[in-house]
Amino acid sequence: MDGVSSLWVTVHGHNHPKITAAIKDQAERIAHSTMLGLANVPASYLAWRLVQIAPDGLKMVFFSDNGSTAVEIALKMACHYRKLSQNPAERRRTGFISFHNAYHGDTLGSVSVGGIDLFHGVFRDLIFRAEFAEYPNYYRQGPPLDRQSYLKHCLDSLEKLMERLWERTTALIIEPLVQGAGGMITAEPGFLSGVRALCNRYGVLLIADEVATGFGRTGKMFACEHEDVSPDFLCLSKALTGGYLPMAATLTTEKVYQRFLGSEQKPVVFYHGHSYTGNQLAAAAALANLDIFQEEQVIKAIQPRISLFRKALQDKVAPLEAVGEVRQCGFMVGIELAADRTTAKSFDPALKMGRRVIFQARKRGVIIRPLGDVVVLMPHLSFSEEELLKLVEVTAESIRAACEELKT
Ligand SMILES: Cc1ncc(COP(=O)(O)O)c(C=O)c1O
Repeated sequence: MDGVSSLWVTVHGHNHPKITAAIKDQAERIAHSTMLGLANVPASYLAWRLVQIAPDGLKMVFFSDNGSTAVEIALKMACHYRKLSQNPAERRRTGFISFHNAYHGDTLGSVSVGGIDLFHGVFRDLIFRAEFAEYPNYYRQGPPLDRQSYLKHCLDSLEKLMERLWERTTALIIEPLVQGAGGMITAEPGFLSGVRALCNRYGVLLIADEVATGFGRTGKMFACEHEDVSPDFLCLSKALTGGYLPMAATLTTEKVYQRFLGSEQKPVVFYHGHSYTGNQLAAAAALANLDIFQEEQVIKAIQPRISLFRKALQDKVAPLEAVGEVRQCGFMVGIELAADRTTAKSFDPALKMGRRVIFQARKRGVIIRPLGDVVVLMPHLSFSEEELLKLVEVTAESIRAACEELKT
């Protein structure tokens, strides 16, 4: 059983007949043709379909191959956008704000806005400098404040940062609702819309990195919808093709696009392209993926299963001695293991508790992966009630077995 959607990509299960057929059908026509100076049918149609389902205002689509490049492109466009301004003060706004503990990919631009020392620290000499704000992590940083006061504290400190930096900042990048690779940290409700309001106040563009949260994972098509937020850039990848082929898209607004139009006398080129940009096989898979969402009313269909998943986690996993917190947003779950749950004290990292748990799960036929001592569950949206219950049951057994192992 694949309990992490093959690193958060698979949506409707493996070997879905519709997606397999769409790829075969496309391969029999043409697999790939460059998008430099040309368009192709599946990618053009996909761009149109993405605009239909994206939050309001996102009208333009730029394709690439993976989540990191989707972010890279948003960063480069946000910088180039300011450089094209008629106003010299605006041309100086080329910096970025990100969040501590953020993960946006492994290429150097996305590493620059990454906030996890383990992944990013060693590359600090290679990257541009970004500024980092606090992402709400109530479990680690909240108490003794109540949740509402903690939310206010996070927004207030972001506002202070923006007050100081807006004149040299082009954009803020955020993982909406959930910081994924940072440990499935679920932000306080209201944080995302608060961030959008601050970006509006200080004229900062908002980049929503929905590489992990996009395509139903949080219980809505896009996480931004939970708080009615429309970003200026939306980065998509992972589940875009249903988990079949690498592809990514960076969406932006007409306003950003207009600035790149230039004129006959002074043409503007956004220099960013990849050999496989707009790949037709991947676009065909993505179109089949979106068809399944539509035909099977997937977002509506998963709602009762999200509730069942929540109840099972609360009944079977949350009460375990070694569990500090269960964080859940739709089908995204992080189970924070704790040596002492009353004080949120972590296990000694040398014990590698997260790894112990996932190896116990392997023995029971379930593939899950840890992020340090956070056990991640991210089932396919097509998991049945029985499969969800089995995933939770095996996870609970594996946590108990890993704790037993420590005693021997
Ligand atoms: C939020 C987010 N952005 C970007 C990426 C990078 O995506 P990729 O691994 O496809 O480069 C990831 C990958 O986990 C992610 O979670």
